[in-house]
Amino acid sequence: MKVSTLSAAVSCIASVAAFPQYLETRDTWEPQEWIAPGPNDSRGPCPGLNTLANHGYLPRDGKGITLDILKKGMLEGFNIEEGDAILLFTQAIRTAPDYPLADSFDLANLGRHGILEHDISLSRSDAYFADPNPFNETVWAETESYFTTPMITVDQLAAARMGRLATSKATNPEHELSALADGFSWGECAAFFEIMADGTTGTVDKKFIEYWFKNERMPTEIGWQRRKTTMKGSERLEYSLKLIIAGGQVDDQSFNRLLLH
Ligand code: HEM
Ligand SMILES: [Mg+2]
Repeated sequence: MKVSTLSAAVSCIASVAAFPQYLETRDTWEPQEWIAPGPNDSRGPCPGLNTLANHGYLPRDGKGITLDILKKGMLEGFNIEEGDAILLFTQAIRTAPDYPLADSFDLANLGRHGILEHDISLSRSDAYFADPNPFNETVWAETESYFTTPMITVDQLAAARMGRLATSKATNPEHELSALADGFSWGECAAFFEIMADGTTGTVDKKFIEYWFKNERMPTEIGWQRRKTTMKGSERLEYSLKLIIAGGQVDDQSFNRLLLH
C-alpha cells in the first residue's frame, strides 16, 4: 500500500503552502502584453510556462529562469502560490545542462527527453516521431476528439490522456513512461481545471483550452479571467486523484502517480 507516499506528498505540500501571498482581486484583470516569441527565444513543451514568457511574466527570451523569477511569474501570471513554484523549480533545474551547479533553467531545456519531458503528451509529439517541444496539430486533434461538449469534464480529459497512452503504446517502438512521468502527466491534466478554470467546478470551457494551447496566450479576449483565489499545490493532488480514478488507473501504483508536476 502506498499510503506513506501519499502522506509524504501531502505533508510536503502542506509545508510549502505555509508561505502567504496576497494578490489584488479586482473584478477584471488584464494580463501584460502578449508578444509572439522570436526565432532566438527559448520555448519548450510546457504551454503554461511558454504562455507566461509570451506575456513577460517570465523573461521573454525564455532563458535564465531563477527561483525568484519563477515564483513571481507564476503568482502574478496565473495566481499560483509561491510554494508550488518552489516545488516545481526543484524539478525544472534538473533539466539544466550544468545541473547540479545550475541556479536557473531555460524553457527549451524542459524538452530534453526522459528528464521531465515524456511520451503521451496531449499536444506534443512523442520524441520518437518528432521534436516534442512545439505544439503539434495532429496530436492535438486526437486529444480534442474526446472533448465532445462545450465544457470539458474530468472524465473526458482522463479518457483523452488514456487514449494518448494507448496510441503511444501501439505505435511508438520506443514508448516509455516512468513512474515520475506518469505522475507528471496527471498533474499536467489537473492544470486544466485549476488554471483555465478556478479549481472549484471540475469542468473547464473548451474554448479557453483550445485558445490557450494553440496561441500560448491567456484567453482574456474571449472572456477568461485569472482565478481570484490563489492556487495551492494541494489542489493538484486533488485533481490528479480524480483524474486517475476517472482514467481507471487505481491500483497499487496509484499513489506513486500522485507526484508533483
Ligand atoms: C516550474 C513550473 C513548471 C515546470 C517545470 C513545468 C514543466 C513541464 C514539462 C517538462 C512539460 C512537458 C511534459 C510532456 O508533456 O512531455 C509540461 C507540460 C505541461 N505543463 Fe508544465 N511546467 C510548469 C508549470 C506549468 C504551469 C504553471 C502550467 C499551467 C498553467 C502548466 C501546464 C502544463 C500542461 C497542461 C502540460 C501538458 C502539455 C501536453 O501534454 O501537451 N505547467 N510542463
Ligand atoms: Mg512530451
